[in-house]
Amino acid sequence: MGFILAAVGSAVGLGNIWRFPFITGQYGGSSFLITYLAFVALIGFPAILVEFVIGRRTDRNPVGALRELGSGVWSYAGWLFVVTGFIILSYYSVVAGWFLRYTLIGITEGYTLTDPTEANALFGTVSTGLDTLLFHAVFMLLVVGIIAAGVRRGIELSVKVMVPAILVMLVGLAAYGFTLDGAAAAYGYYLSPDFGTITANWTEILPAAAGQAFFTLSLGMGVMITYASYLGEDRNLAADAGIIATIDTLIAVLVGFVVFPVLFTVGIEPGTGGAGAIFVSLTSAFASVPGGRIIGIVFFGMVGIAALSSAISILEVLVSYLIDELGVARVPASAALGAAVFLLGVPVTLDLVFLNLYDLLADGILLVLGSLLLALFVGWVIPDVGRAELRKGIADVGDLDGAWIWAVRIPIVIVVIVSLYLGIVDY
Ligand code: PHE
Ligand code: NA
Repeated sequence: MGFILAAVGSAVGLGNIWRFPFITGQYGGSSFLITYLAFVALIGFPAILVEFVIGRRTDRNPVGALRELGSGVWSYAGWLFVVTGFIILSYYSVVAGWFLRYTLIGITEGYTLTDPTEANALFGTVSTGLDTLLFHAVFMLLVVGIIAAGVRRGIELSVKVMVPAILVMLVGLAAYGFTLDGAAAAYGYYLSPDFGTITANWTEILPAAAGQAFFTLSLGMGVMITYASYLGEDRNLAADAGIIATIDTLIAVLVGFVVFPVLFTVGIEPGTGGAGAIFVSLTSAFASVPGGRIIGIVFFGMVGIAALSSAISILEVLVSYLIDELGVARVPASAALGAAVFLLGVPVTLDLVFLNLYDLLADGILLVLGSLLLALFVGWVIPDVGRAELRKGIADVGDLDGAWIWAVRIPIVIVVIVSLYLGIVDY
């Protein structure tokens, strides 16, 4: 139970609530959605199992795990995970700070702006400047405090309350979205894919959808390796991966049912919403629904906690690396890494250009590269070890492990290499 809570806590976060709607808007709505859903099932699900088998098999942190299973070269992947974690956490924390700030706005003044221009202006003041830096600092302090004090379990337990609460609120908000004037147009945009659009724009949609699938499932930087190292041999890895992927996907898809009807109703082109899409649409929704102020405070606050459990999973990878490699104690390791991550995030609080730069680098290149290395390693270097590990704890396994290893060997590798190439070109 602790494992599922930790893994779901890591997966559900800003990737679902903040990143998913604006990337979907940017890449054309339904065409992106269907590609992303296909990738979660065909690439994401087998890739989760790759990390699970490594983690449970070796019972170690990602770097140690790769060193134990492979030869020297593979342990360099651990370095990549560390770099990736640094970059992701630095902007993740800044964006989480925006959610804290919006929670506070609800408490002190409520959500009153229905005019998109004003809502956009508010987003502008929240997303850059000295206050933004302050909220980034507060969030990083929370993350470091929790890791250093070893009270992570408390946060993991809160997942039990938070994830169902987020789901219920999203269903309610989606129902509200259904009543809006823009709903019909929004559903058309979100739900009726046009395969012509996909084929015409696949060089953009494919890497974006693959990157989003890895990001949202916390794949490609060792988080799921670390968490699976707590697992007993009696656990059914495939069932656990299925639960995690389903909850994560459900939350993201529901967010679309909230954001797009609002954007279409207030007259914002979904492709132009950018990083502010979720804030502009939600503040306008909270300004109009009855009880919107309370719902808004609880919602933004919950997302802040969801972001916390994801951020913790990233810092944990960095801290365990420092502890194991350099023998640093837990508290100074957490403090030093937290400070470094904070500094790396400073430019993001000054100009959103850095947000795009970091995000494109982490999501378009680093996570994809990490997933490629792991897939190559398990699929081609230690396939028998991987298959044997997957079979444990599954009563009626059939040829699941055989199908899985081929999904890891070929489709993941092809999609990832193509995405990586397009991602680098784009960068
Ligand atoms: N999966 C998290 C989210 O959707 C983000 C994350 C990425 C966490 C990579 C850990 C590692 O918010
Ligand atoms: Na996610």
